[in-house]
Amino acid sequence: MSEVEDNVPRHIAIIMDGNGRWAKKQGVPVSSGHKAGVEALGHIVKSCEKHQISVLTLFAFSRENWQRPEKEVSALMSLFSLYLNKEINNLHDNGVRVRFIGSRDNLADKLLKKMEHAEHLTRNNTALTVVMAVDYSGVWDLVQATKSITQAVLSGDVMVDDIDDALLTSHLSLSDIGAPDLCIRTSGE
Ligand code: FPP
Repeated sequence: MSEVEDNVPRHIAIIMDGNGRWAKKQGVPVSSGHKAGVEALGHIVKSCEKHQISVLTLFAFSRENWQRPEKEVSALMSLFSLYLNKEINNLHDNGVRVRFIGSRDNLADKLLKKMEHAEHLTRNNTALTVVMAVDYSGVWDLVQATKSITQAVLSGDVMVDDIDDALLTSHLSLSDIGAPDLCIRTSGE
């Protein structure tokens, strides 16, 4: 396809939920549900490329997800790491830029290195941007934006009266990308 299709969203966000319910229905462990969720990603990325979607944001691991059983959290981190190992070169070859949003404070060093490598390797790609939200929440985003605005106020670059909707929005993680046009919950909700 050479031209951008009409009525196609520019930015799609996917909340990767329903894995547990799917696994329960199949009579398999929840980790198999998460694995199937990652496998489905391959098809989703291909489809976004085919339809010339600009941005795909994946809400993969929320800050609340740390409350899950330790075994499940560790299985999710392994799946995420494995996905980067297996797919990063393929994504790069297909012109996909990979970005991450969320706190990096609680992630293992080894995983962080893979994330940084993925971001660096793919930084100039323009076909599709895949944003992975890992240890992300809306409140976390507001906290980091507040810190960054406070720094700007303290250094005299921003006056308190300048703080408005636009300024706050410009400090959010996806300020340069903008809000999603379509949000899909894979559970079907
Ligand atoms: C919710 O399912 C899903 C998650 C908590 C994790 C999704 C993340 C991955 C599959 C792995 C890492 C991602 C990438 C980008 C490689 P759930 O157990 O809450 O299911 P439910 O909604 O049926 O309860």
